[in-house]
Amino acid sequence: MGRKEKGNRIQPNRPMKKIFLVLTACLSLAGTKAQETNQPMKILVACFSYSGNARTVAEQIRKATGADFFGIEVRDAYPSDYQGVLDRAKREIGNDEKPALKAMPENLAAYDVIFIGSPNWWNTIAPPVAAFLSSGDFTGNTLVPFVTHGGGGMAHCETAVKRLCPTATLLKGLAVNGSSVAAAAPRVERWLKEIGVGK
Ligand SMILES: Cc1cc2nc3c(=O)[nH]c(=O)nc-3n(C[C@H](O)[C@H](O)[C@H](O)COP(=O)(O)O)c2cc1C
Repeated sequence: MGRKEKGNRIQPNRPMKKIFLVLTACLSLAGTKAQETNQPMKILVACFSYSGNARTVAEQIRKATGADFFGIEVRDAYPSDYQGVLDRAKREIGNDEKPALKAMPENLAAYDVIFIGSPNWWNTIAPPVAAFLSSGDFTGNTLVPFVTHGGGGMAHCETAVKRLCPTATLLKGLAVNGSSVAAAAPRVERWLKEIGVGK
């Protein structure tokens, strides 16, 4: 029996789930440029952060993987008052507005794996991250979302990344509560092992 009944939902049991996740990670990364050329995997961590939490997790990923880092920055900075940023973010998300970015990395195609970091804003990725994903061509890249939040978890962030980059391969993301980012490194490392990305 490879499955467990829980209520009226059928869920894979834990060992089966683990094998499935490892297989998914291996299959997803099979055929990457790194494997074809026997080179180490080239990894980028791209991240927008308003108050520093997603940036902290980005640094933990960078340290654990040896990745390059790219900070996503908007030309017109968000207001420093909380109500101001809530209002602007709500408007941008509601109208599907993509704020202008200061820059994009030049060589996205060179990366096998790109981690995409964002705070959870109104249950989805922050508009600068949507702008970043809309501006690049991620065909052939493997994308890995990670978010920080105030209790709402991943919400629609993973699906937003998939919707904006339908031709990229998506690996299982990570959601970290903003209040626990400082101590999140061990959790980040377990997750990296699970998805098969790292040194
Ligand atoms: C505009 C805005 C909207 C937010 N919406 C949510 C939300 O829907 N759910 C949630 O759990 N947290 C929400 N938060 C809280 C942030 O996700 C949380 O503080 C996060 O850790 C911030 O990451 P950062 O420091 O990298 O900006 C929101 C914060 C802001 C500023």
